[in-house]
Amino acid sequence: MKIGVLTSGGDAPGMNAAVRAVVRAGTLYGHEIYGIKDGYAGLVNNNMELLTHESVSGMLSKGGTFLGTSRSEEFKKTEVQQKAVEDLKQRGIEALVVIGGDGTYRGAMELAKLGMKVIGLPGTIDNDIAGTDFTIGFHTAVETIVDAIDKLRDTSTSHARCSIVEVMGRHCGDLALFAGICGGAEFIVTPESPLNKEKIINRLKDHKKNGRRHAIIVITERLLDAHQFAEEITEQSGFATRATVLGYIQRGGSPCPEDRILGSRMGTYAIELLNDEIYGVCVGVRDGRMVHIPFSNVVGQKRPKNELYNLVKKVS
Ligand code: F6P
Repeated sequence: MKIGVLTSGGDAPGMNAAVRAVVRAGTLYGHEIYGIKDGYAGLVNNNMELLTHESVSGMLSKGGTFLGTSRSEEFKKTEVQQKAVEDLKQRGIEALVVIGGDGTYRGAMELAKLGMKVIGLPGTIDNDIAGTDFTIGFHTAVETIVDAIDKLRDTSTSHARCSIVEVMGRHCGDLALFAGICGGAEFIVTPESPLNKEKIINRLKDHKKNGRRHAIIVITERLLDAHQFAEEITEQSGFATRATVLGYIQRGGSPCPEDRILGSRMGTYAIELLNDEIYGVCVGVRDGRMVHIPFSNVVGQKRPKNELYNLVKKVS
């Protein structure tokens, strides 16, 4: 079978490991694997190339995605999708493995409706995809954030300051939750665990009274203006506060072992599903096992609130 593979949406460490596994496992079973450039933009422009066992050599440890990625507005048009499927059929490509987040899965569902055999792999640092315990890239991003928190704690302690650390995650608080626990944050503010300004300010007043020299607040992006919040805290609690918005640094870097393994397992599983004539599904990891779920059960669905929130109350 001829199979296309693409990465789409925000890049995530471990995407290369997943592509590599699709290529390695795919060629092992006698398939031809085509790497589509820059996500769905590569389907719009009919831009792809044959990938071989050798062409993915050295990719396991590389951050980003060597195929390139995009958030293609053009691809949302039905006529563009139809043309893309025609182009793929002309090349003899019957199946696609798409690696990305919710937006990528929406595109995949449209392609499936048009007759493509599609498998989705969850690739995003946000860990915001229903049907999987973890997404490819999440663990590496958590490591990057924890490293930043540790460094910020050093300087905060030296200056007797509070640090606000704003992290990515879009509408999901898992990056803040996991990194906040690992970094010993005093407060974790996420879409699932909303801000209680009064509680934070009162606790910081107590910290100051008791001579504490630092405090860390980890907060998910888009909830407030971190710099303005730092000024409010400084004024109202007397605890000097600075904000750091970590930004895109969270998406880069060499994937950690968990993401290399997850990408490798998921990429291989995608090929095994196609071998078994199973498609129109996305892959997940549940309690350590590979699973597949129809796109319609995952797209637009919220994940249940993480049970680690119970831990936060006890350890922060
Ligand atoms: O989905 C991954 C992510 O990094 C989010 O955490 C963030 O909100 C968004 O992408 C940023 O997107 P862009 O790269 O388009 O600015």
